[in-house]
Amino acid sequence: MFQHRPVILVIHGPNLNMLGPREPEIYGSASLQDLEKQVRQYARARGYRARFYQSNHEGRIIDCIQKQQNRICGIIINAGALTHYSYALRDALACVTVPAAEVHLSDISAREDFRKISVIEPVCCCRIYGKGAAGYAEAVDAVTALYERGE
Ligand code: DQA
Repeated sequence: MFQHRPVILVIHGPNLNMLGPREPEIYGSASLQDLEKQVRQYARARGYRARFYQSNHEGRIIDCIQKQQNRICGIIINAGALTHYSYALRDALACVTVPAAEVHLSDISAREDFRKISVIEPVCCCRIYGKGAAGYAEAVDAVTALYERGE
């Protein structure tokens, strides 16, 4: 039964492996593992399976998207700083047919100017920021709603 659950790919980009010790006043004190545990439980309760990938390397993230694209029903991506300048990542997301939700833990609209720009926004179905871990639950709801409607 469990193996038939549709899979949501949850991607974390550069420096998100450092959650916990990394600027806790901005990102909170939970580790990436804590965050993934919450997302896994939330997805599972809704009939989905979450698969996680973290890399500090742009090309590896793109490889992961390309490899997984036919095995997943949606993507949740916190691309870290790649959000603000990676056209290669944007092109990779534009290629996939499943919905991708852009998530940020912090309120990027209220920080440095460079964080206000997202080059991946146009190829994502929604953009959620400033809600901490709760933003990932919202993203699960967003991608699964589209999947369930066949969009
Ligand atoms: C972040 C915001 C980005 O600007 C930053 O580079 C990150 C984390 C967030 O989750 O708030 O690495 O994506």
